Amino acid sequence: MDVLPEHTRRFLAATAPEHTAVQAEMAALADEWRFPIIGPEAGAVLRLLARLADAERVFEFGSGFGYSATWFLRGGADTVVCTEFDAEEAERGREFADEYGYADRVTFEVGDAMETIDRYDGPFDAVLIDHRKASYVDAYRSVLPTLRTGGVVVADNVTAGPVDFERLVAHAADGEPLPSADVDAATRGIGEYVDVVRSDDAVETVILPVGEGIAVSTKVV
Ligand SMILES: C[S@@+](CC[C@H](N)C(=O)[O-])C[C@H]1O[C@@H](n2cnc3c(N)ncnc32)[C@H](O)[C@@H]1O
Repeated sequence: MDVLPEHTRRFLAATAPEHTAVQAEMAALADEWRFPIIGPEAGAVLRLLARLADAERVFEFGSGFGYSATWFLRGGADTVVCTEFDAEEAERGREFADEYGYADRVTFEVGDAMETIDRYDGPFDAVLIDHRKASYVDAYRSVLPTLRTGGVVVADNVTAGPVDFERLVAHAADGEPLPSADVDAATRGIGEYVDVVRSDDAVETVILPVGEGIAVSTKVV
């Protein structure tokens, strides 16, 4: 189900920033591998947030070959810690960074992002959560202490992707229960994430229906 009307989607796609050369190559690879990158509409929001937050250090949960990271870099971020289970994806990310001259600005950590974050103290200025949907709340809780006040956390796939958006709407608007984890772990994970950030006084949150829907939270304490 498309969250936005077709003509609005076309307008946002037509007015999103052009890909850089490396982003265009990554987007072609994503098509070839059928790999879910965040895309230019949501990517432009990452760029904007990095710029507004004057971001220096960024942490990502789930980076693939580093497409989303390039948007933070375009927004002026100094460095991005990329995390990825899949060694081939991470290696491709390193190759892109070498070829396009930004290898000193990205670090690819292969392994479980939930363990990698424990090895970093921060402070981080921006965070992207885009890995296993059932782990979003744990990721948020583990990274929040490392986020500086005024920093931002972006979570992808809050309206589309591997989630049942109708169930999320029924939960948020009508108080319907979320599906149990054994029935639909991704939808439950996203629903719980939205509940947690909306009720946490440490952050202010807005949902933006760009790309596959992003929850943007800024730390206020
Ligand atoms: C949606 S893709 C990331 C796309 C990327 N953020 C982008 O827009 O370019 C999700 C990635 O997270 C990885 N992943 C899932 N769970 C993970 C975990 N616990 N630790 C590290 N990587 C994980 C998957 O292997 C997959 O490559």
